[in-house]
Parts: sequence; C-alpha cells; structure tokens
Amino acid sequence: MSAQHISVLLAEVLAGLTPAPNTDSIDGTLGGAGHAEALLHATGPTGRLLGVDADPAAIARGRERLARFGDRVVLVQASFRQLATIAAAQGFAQVGSILLDLGISSFQLGDPERGFSFQAEGPLDMRMNPDSLLTAADIVNHWSQEALADVIYRYGEEPRSRRIARAIIAARPIQTTTALASVVSGAIGGRRGRERIHPATRVFQALRIRVNNELAALEAVLPQLVTLLAPGGRFGIITFHSLEDRIVKLFIQQETRDCLCPPDLPVCRCGHRATLRAITRKPIQPGEDEIDRNPRSRSAKLRIAERL
Ligand SMILES: C[S@@+](CC[C@H](N)C(=O)[O-])C[C@H]1O[C@@H](n2cnc3c(N)ncnc32)[C@H](O)[C@@H]1O
Repeated sequence: MSAQHISVLLAEVLAGLTPAPNTDSIDGTLGGAGHAEALLHATGPTGRLLGVDADPAAIARGRERLARFGDRVVLVQASFRQLATIAAAQGFAQVGSILLDLGISSFQLGDPERGFSFQAEGPLDMRMNPDSLLTAADIVNHWSQEALADVIYRYGEEPRSRRIARAIIAARPIQTTTALASVVSGAIGGRRGRERIHPATRVFQALRIRVNNELAALEAVLPQLVTLLAPGGRFGIITFHSLEDRIVKLFIQQETRDCLCPPDLPVCRCGHRATLRAITRKPIQPGEDEIDRNPRSRSAKLRIAERL
C-alpha cells in the first residue's frame, strides 16, 4: 500500500493563487492535506481553511496532519458539489483562495480494498464516499451491454468500448479488479508496442468517473467558486484528464467574456457580464523533475482564474 500522497504542482499552486496572510481559503479536495497545509502556512497567522473531502478517511488523516493549526481549520466530509452550502454553514464567504485537485489520492489508489487499481486484487468498489450507493461492481455486473459500452466510451474515451462491453457481459459475474483487468486485456489484446498505458486504464477511469459522478460534480461546483471568492480572490483547479480539463477551460472562457450572444447579433441580449479574469492562458503542467519524482503528476494540468 502506498504510504503517502505527494501533492502535485505545489509550488505552482502557491505562486498562482498568491494566498495572502490572514485570508481564508477553501480546499475542496483535501486528500492527504498537503496543499491545505501549504495554504495554512501562507495564510497565517489567522487565516482559516475549510477542507472538504468525500472520503471520511481523508478527513481523518487531514485532522491529524493539520491538528497544530487548531481552530484555523474546519474539515467537512461531503462532496464539493455542495460547496456553497457547506461554506455558508461554516461561516466561510468571500475567501481569498480555493483549490480543487481532482481525482483520487495515492492513499485511495494504493488501498486494494477501495478497488481503484488493477495492480492489486480487490473488490470492484471505486466509491470515494463509501456510503454512496453505486459501486463499480453494480455497473460491471448489472448494467446492459449498451449502457456499459456508453460509459466506457464517454468517460474512458475508449474507441473499443463495444468489444470490451461484450466481453464483460460474457464473463459475468466479475468480482475483482484483477479479474476485470484480465477480461479487458483478453478483449482488446495486451499492451501494444507503442501504447504507454495498460489496456484496462481507460475502463477503470470510466467506471470511477461514473461511480462518483465526477463530471457532474465538477460542472456543479464551478459557478459556486465564483460566488465564494472575494473580488481579487483566485481559484485553481488541477485536472488529470481531458474531459475534466475541457469543462474547466470552457467555464473560464465563458466567465471571462462580457456577452455570450452569438456573434451575428448586433446588440447583446443575454446581459452576461464577465466574472473572472484568466490568470493562466495555457494550463500549467509539471516539469520533468516533478514527473520523475512523482510519475502520478504526469497528466496534471493547473488552471487559475481571478474573481473580478
Ligand atoms: C488528488 S486528491 C487531493 C490531494 C491533496 N490536494 C493533497 O495535497 O494531498 C483528491 C481528493 O479529492 C477527493 N474528491 C474527489 N472528488 C470529490 C468530490 N466531488 N467531493 C469531495 N471530494 C472529492 C478524493 O476523495 C481525494 O481525496
């Protein structure tokens, strides 16, 4: 089991968010609390931090790691989908910095019982919040071939989704991560010469995204970030695949424009006014040094925007 989680793009997050002393911040994906700890250092001596994570294990770990900051820290186990409501209930408004570092932590990936990885045998679970209802096993063993192929195609961007779905249906019931990985390999062949990733990678990504409704949660939280920030406050979002990055990029593009009417309309009818200024034109990505130190950071992209 992996013993630690290395925070991705840590220096770049701090340089980009510019958290000021004595300002409040929100970390919507607490994880191993590495970014949260750095934010607390930067916003001392009185700035508070609201840390949210869907996973109770992350909250318990965060409580330990951040204990020395005392009542500057408030931790809540919940989805960031409800971030505005949670923040209001905890007395956080007009904050200076917000961070979302999406996906799963090395703690989650390294625990076979959570079922996120095909490197070790475990149940097909993949829930970030163990109290939520849908598991990967439900999808793999009970959804129709068409629905299964659709999930694999949409969230895994896997062109061979139909073939994989057919093989899964034929192999039912599939109980473990390693059994699923070998069904997928059997359906589309082992790793091909030039392919960097294991054939099951995209299928596991797809199931995890669907089990946790990840894209819907991201779409729901973005407008809340704007309302939670004070003018001049900044949010940073680290994504790990193109589906997430596209959602963040389009949102920032939209919120940096004064009018969203089609270009052929002579006058603005929508009344939309820009709420953000983009701080990153292109996403910030880890350098080779960071990727060597932490291969998991390879696909990370950080985008930052400032509240007008
Ligand atoms: C990559 S880790 C964060 C690591 C953290 N930044 C650090 O420095 O240790 C992502 C965390 O976000 C949590 N998470 C993902 N989606 C979530 C959501 N919709 N609501 C709340 N937490 C979520 C996961 O449970 C996981 O612990």
